Amino acid sequence: MIVPADPYHIAAAIEALRNGKLVALPTETVYGLACDATNGAAVADIFSAKGRPHFNPLIAHVSSVDMAARYVKIDPLSQILMEAFWPGPLTLVLPLIPDSPVHPLATAGLSTLAVRNPRGVFSDIIADFGRPVVAPSANRSGRVSPTNAAAVADELGGQVALIVDGGPATVGIESTIIKVSGEDIFLLRPGGLERAAIEMVAKRGLKQIDQRAAIEAPGMLKSHYAPEAPVRLNVDKVEAGEALLAFGSKRAHGYGEAAVILNLSPTGDMREAARNLFNYLKQLDRSDIVRIAVEPIPCQGLGEAINDRLLRAAAPRS
Ligand code: TXA
Ligand code: MG
Repeated sequence: MIVPADPYHIAAAIEALRNGKLVALPTETVYGLACDATNGAAVADIFSAKGRPHFNPLIAHVSSVDMAARYVKIDPLSQILMEAFWPGPLTLVLPLIPDSPVHPLATAGLSTLAVRNPRGVFSDIIADFGRPVVAPSANRSGRVSPTNAAAVADELGGQVALIVDGGPATVGIESTIIKVSGEDIFLLRPGGLERAAIEMVAKRGLKQIDQRAAIEAPGMLKSHYAPEAPVRLNVDKVEAGEALLAFGSKRAHGYGEAAVILNLSPTGDMREAARNLFNYLKQLDRSDIVRIAVEPIPCQGLGEAINDRLLRAAAPRS
């Protein structure tokens, strides 16, 4: 059931969290499927509702840096970044404090916990609830993330107690995930906070994790964020019957052949493109198209995260 983010329904959402239920909540990035991070049965329900593999850990959402400090050990550099960017689209992977009440299912048994303080009503809900809240994107595993309440209802409608409608997500792409290790900062997932913003505050470059090295960011499964239709990237010529996901003012050759065209940002604005990405992929994913063709999108700023998601949307499906 989709409900407005008014005081009555916010209280209902908090009550549902207390009772170990799943609720869908808005964040500035994408909608999350939320539950009490300390309740193992509720966390197990999240994995089954999403069809998510159990080795893929969840992000624990908190309402402040102080709250995070109750669950993870925060090094000075991570602290600076949290203070600079929270609340906002930045997730940090940090060592769990021994005897933390966060259920081990949430971390897939790892000794680290990913923490993030989202913007908006979700943060107020967590502050009131008083415990960390795990929330993966509110889609079935591997599929396009929902950026509005209706998209959540399409994906998981039957499986959540409540969907709190906070309007369309303002960032539209999941949080950036980093991990500080000694003097280095590793980028585990590009996302809604640009690399350059982090590098400026941290006064150093972000390092890439070696994708072959273990399961550092297990969510980096290759095929992910995938619509039903196949996806073809960097097109310079559209084929008949394709849906075109366009970008900027210059069209690919043969765009007249496209069954439908949506432009992520006619002016080439990366923020606008990120905000529209998942919604447009979903709209273009019609049964009468042969494929979704995507025009080239530069890798600058949020373009890094946009291209990351598109690469996974286009990856071979198993
Ligand atoms: O913007 C977001 O981050 C959204 C909203 C709802 O907050 N959440 C989100 O969650 O994108 P999810 O579950 O779809 O992605 C979480 C990612 C996964 O790639 C997972 O592997 C990684 O975080 N992750 C979680 N815990 C980790 C850990 N301890 N070490 C490394 N990666 C971790
Ligand atoms: Mg996800």
